Amino acid sequence: MAQIGVDIGRAEEILRQGGLVAIPTETVYGLAGNALKESSVSKIFKAKNRPSFDPLIVHTNALHKVESFVRYIPDQAIQLAKQFWPGPLTLLLQKKSIVPDLVTSGLDSVAVRIPNHELTLSLLAQLEFPLAAPSANPFGYVSPTTAEHVEAQLGHTVDYILDGGACQVGVESTIVSFLEEKPKVLRLGGLAVEQIEEVIGSVRVNKHSSSSPQAPGMLKSHYAPGKSIVWIDGFNWKAANDFSQIGAIVFQHPLEELPLENQFVLSAKGDLEEAARNLFTALRTMDKNNHIALILTQRVPDVGLGRAINDRLKRATAK
Ligand code: TXA
Ligand code: MG
Repeated sequence: MAQIGVDIGRAEEILRQGGLVAIPTETVYGLAGNALKESSVSKIFKAKNRPSFDPLIVHTNALHKVESFVRYIPDQAIQLAKQFWPGPLTLLLQKKSIVPDLVTSGLDSVAVRIPNHELTLSLLAQLEFPLAAPSANPFGYVSPTTAEHVEAQLGHTVDYILDGGACQVGVESTIVSFLEEKPKVLRLGGLAVEQIEEVIGSVRVNKHSSSSPQAPGMLKSHYAPGKSIVWIDGFNWKAANDFSQIGAIVFQHPLEELPLENQFVLSAKGDLEEAARNLFTALRTMDKNNHIALILTQRVPDVGLGRAINDRLKRATAK
């Protein structure tokens, strides 16, 4: 099994040798390798069992470093970067040829971000190459928000897990594409659309959520746990005979129909940031509970981080 610790020097050494290190970020843990080295990038795809058509995000710690691997950064992208980096924002830009095609699945664009986590920022500052890092989960499964989540699922394929504690945001970064004339949100995430719009004005949000060759990572059932998960409002209570096998992930208030110990409240005080932070742990907890065969869930208010939460729940229920 991989070692878990806070040894940045060790992480650095492994990455220099072409190995893989799980890194903490404010959103979710990433499975990192040298983004400029094909053999490392190919290890990432293997470790995750990820299809090679699903491109990776490149992580670095400074805007001037980003300039070395993208062709051009539009003004509005710079505005967002200055306002929100380090933070849960990924920019999709035209790539330079230094970025291997394997990272971008042959696309002409590269997704880049500066994550906001002290350990990972220190690590990135020591390295002269950027890190390609998808979320550190097997392909199609829920993203990890603690080092233990990573260990449980990828402990056998990663060389070291840098333990930065529980992720503070808890859902993946918001991806904004600057490939067309107007910016477009490709994935709702840890930075609210409203906050982006305060800086650059109104943006379009990608509506389609089904699998598509253009945005392969947006597969419909991407966040699915192993068990069935369905919306509470469409659930036929009369047809259910054993409530003890039903679990629920609710926003603020537990359901009266179900035993309390079968339920996960995302935020008792109704705070969407807290709910986002708890979301993936809720899905994992339900999945691990052997008494529960079916998971019910409900939409949260569709504003701020609530949009990213609803998006993940929608994908989880889409199996
Ligand atoms: O918060 C995050 O973004 C986390 C942490 C580790 O940084 N990373 C993450 O990576 O969520 P991943 O690989 O699970 O999701 C990356 C998404 C995928 O949906 C992928 O399709 C999309 O980014 N993506 C990456 N490069 C792209 C490109 N050139 N064009 C379109 N989509 C791209
Ligand atoms: Mg992922």
